[in-house]
Formats: sequence, structure tokens, C-alpha cells
Amino acid sequence: MPRFRIARFDPESDKETWYKTYEVEAMPRDRILDCLNRIKWEQDGTLGYRMSCAHGVCGSDGMRINGVCALACQKLVKDYGDAEEITLEPLPFFTVRKDLIVDMDDFLERIGSMSPYLVRAKNPPEKESLQSPEEHRKVQDVIRCILCGCCTSACPVMRENPDYVGPAALVWAYRYLYDSRDGDFLKRLEKLNEPDGVWPCENFFECTRVCPKEIPVTKSINFMKREIKKHELP
Ligand code: SF4
Ligand code: SF4
Ligand code: FES
Repeated sequence: MPRFRIARFDPESDKETWYKTYEVEAMPRDRILDCLNRIKWEQDGTLGYRMSCAHGVCGSDGMRINGVCALACQKLVKDYGDAEEITLEPLPFFTVRKDLIVDMDDFLERIGSMSPYLVRAKNPPEKESLQSPEEHRKVQDVIRCILCGCCTSACPVMRENPDYVGPAALVWAYRYLYDSRDGDFLKRLEKLNEPDGVWPCENFFECTRVCPKEIPVTKSINFMKREIKKHELP
């Protein structure tokens, strides 16, 4: 029977984070999210965490599981081997709202700063803007992003330099920079060339390691660095 040590924090009553341990009846193939649900429904209704789809689609249950950021619905009890205790903590770098629930506003604002939408080209087609399969392939990896925040919270540079826009925002920048239907390529590249854009990334690859959608985050960031150099931006 695995034990779950869970970080608890209620800003209305706690000065700092404390940990509570729960024992749960669980099979090796049970998901960490199943265990959390059992704790909440059968033992402690005050526990706070987010979940929705339970199938790795909505991105709402990102958290730190035994020290590594992941989705609780994608990790199984057996993934943690013989560990007698599994520790669940909120995503680091984010402000905790309650227990495992973090404030996503700042994270989403960083993504918003990358204009994550299509800007029409000067001479748009009369009907819809078509995209060939080849053009689509350029962005097919990054469009899998579900905004879970795991990459940004795992990035060591974010902790040293909170102004760095972070890997998730750069994934969204890549998604529109290389969209064949977008008309703002140079402006987007100039934005990425700003001091808090791509350059603070030091290739730690933590973002790539934790991404639950297996997006090649670091490779995409490096690709954009090369693009900036190719265009000889100052
Ligand atoms: S590769 Fe770059 S963005 Fe990813 S974790 Fe490392 S420093 Fe952060
Ligand atoms: S790039 Fe991956 S880890 Fe980062 S927010 Fe998107 S899905 Fe989550
Ligand atoms: S609950 Fe939706 S991704 Fe895990």
C-alpha cells in the first residue's frame, strides 16, 4: 500500500507549506491521479488539486511527483518502483493558490506575450488560407502543447532569471513563427531576439525531459536561435 506525502498550503490559514501523509489502496497500474481522487473522495475532502480530462489532454494536473514535474494522470504507481512513499508537490516557480493548485496567470501572460494567434499576411487569399502537409509538418510537434506548465516550472533558468519568458512561451512562439499562413515572421523573430527571449536558455534540456507531450522544446528553441543568427538581427 503506497504512502502519499502531499504538500499542503492554504493561504488563508497557513504561513508555510506543510506535508500530510495518506495511505491508499492502490495497484501498480493505478495512476497517481486515481490515488489522489481516492484520497480526496474517501479520506480528506479538503485536499486541493486540479484535474479534468484524466487522459493527458487538458494539461490541468501538472505537479511535482517525487521531485520531477509530470501529469498525475500520465504517471502510474509502478513508475515510482519500490518507493514506499510518493511525494506530491505543486509545480515549482509558480505561486501556490492551495495545496497542489498553482496560479497560472503569469504563465499564460508569458505565452500571450508571444502573440499566439495568426496575423494575416498583407495579401491574404480570398477564401481560406491553405496549408500543405509539408508546411504543417514544420509545426506538428509543437501544436501538441497542452499548456501544462511542466517545462517552465522545471527550467533551472527560470529560477535564476524570472524575466526569461520560459520554454512554454517559446514553444508557442515557434508554433506561429513557422506557420506558413502567418504574416508576421520578422516581427516575431525580433521579439524572440529581445534579452528575455530565446537567449537566456542554457540548454539544460529539463523542459524536453519533462514535457508530457514529448515536444522537442530545447531543439525548437535552438532552431529559433539559429534563425535569428541567419537573419543577422542585431
Ligand atoms: S533547455 Fe532552455 S528552456 Fe529548457 S530547461 Fe533548459 S534552459 Fe530552460
Ligand atoms: S511544452 Fe510540453 S511541458 Fe511545456 S506546457 Fe507544453 S505540453 Fe506542457
Ligand atoms: S487531467 Fe487532463 S491532462 Fe491530466
